Amino acid sequence: MHFAGLKAIGEAVTIPLAYYDANVAGTLQLIQAMNAADVRRLVFSSSATIYGNPDYLPLDENHPTRAINPYGRTKLMVEEMLADIAAADPTWRIAILRYFNPVGAHESGLIGDNPNGAPNNLMPYISHVAAGLLPELAVFGDDYPTPDGTGVRDYIHVVDLASGHLAALEAITAGALPISTWNLGTGIGYSVLDMVRTFSEVNNVAVPYRIAKRRLGDVASYYASPDKARDELGWSASRNLADMCSSVWRFERLMRQRNA
Ligand SMILES: NC(=O)c1ccc[n+]([C@@H]2O[C@H](COP(=O)([O-])OP(=O)(O)OC[C@H]3O[C@@H](n4cnc5c(N)ncnc54)[C@H](O)[C@@H]3O)[C@@H](O)[C@H]2O)c1
Repeated sequence: MHFAGLKAIGEAVTIPLAYYDANVAGTLQLIQAMNAADVRRLVFSSSATIYGNPDYLPLDENHPTRAINPYGRTKLMVEEMLADIAAADPTWRIAILRYFNPVGAHESGLIGDNPNGAPNNLMPYISHVAAGLLPELAVFGDDYPTPDGTGVRDYIHVVDLASGHLAALEAITAGALPISTWNLGTGIGYSVLDMVRTFSEVNNVAVPYRIAKRRLGDVASYYASPDKARDELGWSASRNLADMCSSVWRFERLMRQRNA
């Protein structure tokens, strides 16, 4: 399972060379090493960002791919490289997993996401605001064509994401296809304000926020069709938004207690 890589979209715009090096050249070297060792089974972390601005929703695996930033281009290049490799040598067994928005922490509260500095992603940002580490959340735009005007995304619990990887690994091991692609998402879209409210209610904490201007490049709504993964892998996400929010807060509190 190949997770290694750089993943911040904003950073990729400013240091693209580092992204092409880590994500594209890094994967190329991994494939060469695997080939040399006669290991030809790979699960690759791709991203839903490769669909670009949606032509339609929900996004299924047949939606056109069109990366719109350097990070997305690195993922798309790797997907195309893997397709060529699988076509040339059908003994490969490759799963390309297009993640939507992974959030949440392990139920134990011992494994979670603790980014250095100000978080790039919404959920860790909300959690840092709730913990008082940041004063407030800026909600980028409340005039999108969505039910409450804020951006809608498909958040998936990391433990569901993990079980999706195991299902994919089993499927490529048992299957005859050299390469397959699956979305890993829930198919449900939640808005930024849904996230803030649910986090507040489930954990009984305040999450101060203010409405800010739209951010360049953000789209109104982005969510998966999880049908192909359900049909072919027998996998679907089972954890809901409340589970995502409570696990993150448990991790945040335990981590602060340990570090106190
Ligand atoms: N988290 C998300 O929202 C998300 C969404 C879609 C896809 N992905 C992809 O999933 C994968 C894992 O994401 P994550 O959220 O766990 O990221 P992360 O940043 O927490 O973990 C990535 C790891 O890769 C390591 N790494 C980076 N460059 C490397 C290199 N050249 N050689 C060896 N190790 C290197 C980093 O040190 C880090 O430990 C990434 O490939 C990412 O692009 C993540």
